[in-house]
Amino acid sequence: MGPELLTLRDTINQALDAHLPRESDIAQPLIDAMRHSVLGGGKRLRPMLVCATCDAVGGQMTNALPGACAIEFIHAYSLIHDDLPAMDDDDIRHGLPSAHIAFGEANAILAGDSLHSLAFQTIANSNHDDPGTKLKKISLLAGAAGWAGMAGGQCLDIAAEGKPLSLSELQVLHSAKTGALIRVAVQIGALTHGEQPVSQEQYLLLTEFGDRLGLAFQVMDDVLDVTQSTQTLGKPAGSDEALDKNTFPRLMGVEQAKDMAQSLVDEAHALLRRTRLSAALLEQLADLVIHRDN
Ligand code: IPE
Ligand code: IPE
Ligand code: MG
Ligand code: MG
Ligand code: MG
Repeated sequence: MGPELLTLRDTINQALDAHLPRESDIAQPLIDAMRHSVLGGGKRLRPMLVCATCDAVGGQMTNALPGACAIEFIHAYSLIHDDLPAMDDDDIRHGLPSAHIAFGEANAILAGDSLHSLAFQTIANSNHDDPGTKLKKISLLAGAAGWAGMAGGQCLDIAAEGKPLSLSELQVLHSAKTGALIRVAVQIGALTHGEQPVSQEQYLLLTEFGDRLGLAFQVMDDVLDVTQSTQTLGKPAGSDEALDKNTFPRLMGVEQAKDMAQSLVDEAHALLRRTRLSAALLEQLADLVIHRDN
C-alpha cells in the first residue's frame, strides 16, 4: 500500500476510535465488545473508498470521515452477527476471539445493534454536511445495510446453504451481501464533493465502479477462504466448505474465480477512466481488492 493510503488508514483508525464510546454506567461489556470488534483489526477498505472517492471528486477527505466511519460501523456490526452461532458460527476474527466468544452471545448481538445505531448517529451529528446531504447519505446507507442490501444478502446466503445456486443467482447474493456496502462507500464519497458536484453521468459511472469492485471483493474473499491459512486470514479458513456455502470457487474452480475477480477489477478501472476524474487513490484501492492475502 502506498504512503498516502497508509496515512489515510491511520487517520481513519483514529477517527473510529474517537467516535466509539469508552465508558458507560449501564453497558460497559457492550461497549467493550464494540471497541474490540471495530478496533481489533480490519483492512478499512470501505472507509478508504469513501475518502478516496471524496478526493477524486475534489472534496476534503476530512469531511468524508463521518460517512467513512459510519460505513465501517455497519461493516463491523455485520461481521459480529455473521460470526454468531446462528449464522457462520466462527470463533476467530482478526486473529482474536470473535465478539460472542470474548463477550458472550447477548453482548455480541447488542454490540452489533449499537454499532448499527452509532453509524447513523455519526452521519447525523457531523458538522461537515448540510442537512440535505446528510439525509441523502443516511438514506443510501440504510438501503445498503438493510433487507435490500447486506442483511438481505445474508438472508439469502443462509437460505442457500446446501442448495446449489446458478452463477447469476450467486452474483445477486454477493452483490447484496457484500456489494451493497462497497457500492455505497463510493456513493457517499461522491456526495462529499468540492465546489462542483459530480455530474449525474459521473455519479452513475462511480456507482458502477463500486458495483464491480464489490462483487470482485466477495469473489476474492471466497477464493482466500480456500487458499489461505487461518493464521493469514485471521478467521477460520475453510469456513465456507464446512457450511456448504455457495461460493465462486466452488461453482467454477479457484483459477476461474480469480480470473473473474481480475476481469471485474479491469472493468472497474475502465469505468473509472470514463469519469475523467483524477483518481489515483481509487485506482490503488481497486487493485488492493484482489491483490491481498487476507
Ligand atoms: C469480510 O470483509 C467480510 C466480507 C464482506 C467479505 P473484509 O475482508 O473487508 O473484513 P475486514 O474488515 O478487513 O476484516
Ligand atoms: C459475510 O460474508 C459478508 C457480510 C455481510 C458480513 P462471509 O461470511 O464470507 O465473510 P467472512 O468470510 O466470514 O469474513
Ligand atoms: Mg457469512
Ligand atoms: Mg462468515
Ligand atoms: Mg468469507
